[in-house]
Amino acid sequence: MEQIKNPVIEQLHARKSVRVFEDRPIEAAEKRAILEAAIQAPSAGNMNLYTILDITDAALQQRLSETCDNQPFIATAKLCLVFCADYQRWYDLFCEHMPEVRKPAEGDLLLAQADTYIAAQNAVVAAESLGIGSCYIGDITENFEEHQRLLKLPKYVVPTCMLVFGYPTEQQQRRVKPPRFSVEDVVHENGYDAEKCARMGKMLQERQNLPVEAEFHGWVERFCNRKWNCEFSEEMSRSCRAIIDSWCK
Ligand SMILES: Cc1cc2nc3c(=O)[nH]c(=O)nc-3n(C[C@H](O)[C@H](O)[C@H](O)COP(=O)(O)O)c2cc1C
Repeated sequence: MEQIKNPVIEQLHARKSVRVFEDRPIEAAEKRAILEAAIQAPSAGNMNLYTILDITDAALQQRLSETCDNQPFIATAKLCLVFCADYQRWYDLFCEHMPEVRKPAEGDLLLAQADTYIAAQNAVVAAESLGIGSCYIGDITENFEEHQRLLKLPKYVVPTCMLVFGYPTEQQQRRVKPPRFSVEDVVHENGYDAEKCARMGKMLQERQNLPVEAEFHGWVERFCNRKWNCEFSEEMSRSCRAIIDSWCK
């Protein structure tokens, strides 16, 4: 099939995370363009259910690099934005105008987090179009109580993702983008195809070029220990339960 290409599609294909930055500032107008693009994202009920924290205090950025699973490159980024799901301002407004208002609940958190991520991805795409690299930091959802204190968050504002930005070094530009699943792997027609799901092991074995069963087994074991049976994912879930407890009780 003919592959349709245009500058937007090509940029989406080329985009990869950047974790080493040139010592070159992001200009005020560039930052503004990134933020303006974020806010243009689709938003549930057009409620803009997020607040973006622009971290300009170097000491705070350094602290976040520690609280976000000790990732020192965070402190070296030229722009650091924390995207927070935010129901506080709408809830306060409803309380002011309505005789009775239910409290924010689990579904609201989910919706606001969707809004927040979509806005963040717009920021990523806008930055990329300016030649500015970015990296998501999911670990901002850990250590909820400490982030709440550090970032002065009211009750119904929850850190959802962090983005760090900067111009990529040459080495980062040359770095090969990690491969993705194929469209055939992830698109199922008219309902979930369990057979495709079951084929993932074979697909990954080929992709990792590990035909020897024991080697592939070792790779899966290491991957699982790094991304699943690990402290950060337990802490993420603990934080998530703490957020839901504080919202819903
Ligand atoms: C929700 C989310 C959280 C992520 N968290 C981190 C992170 O904490 N640290 C990091 O270095 N990369 C993080 N990443 C980047 C991924 O590791 C990266 O997107 C993935 O390995 C694919 O590589 P690529 O973006 O270079 O194509 C995150 C990405 C997403 C979407």
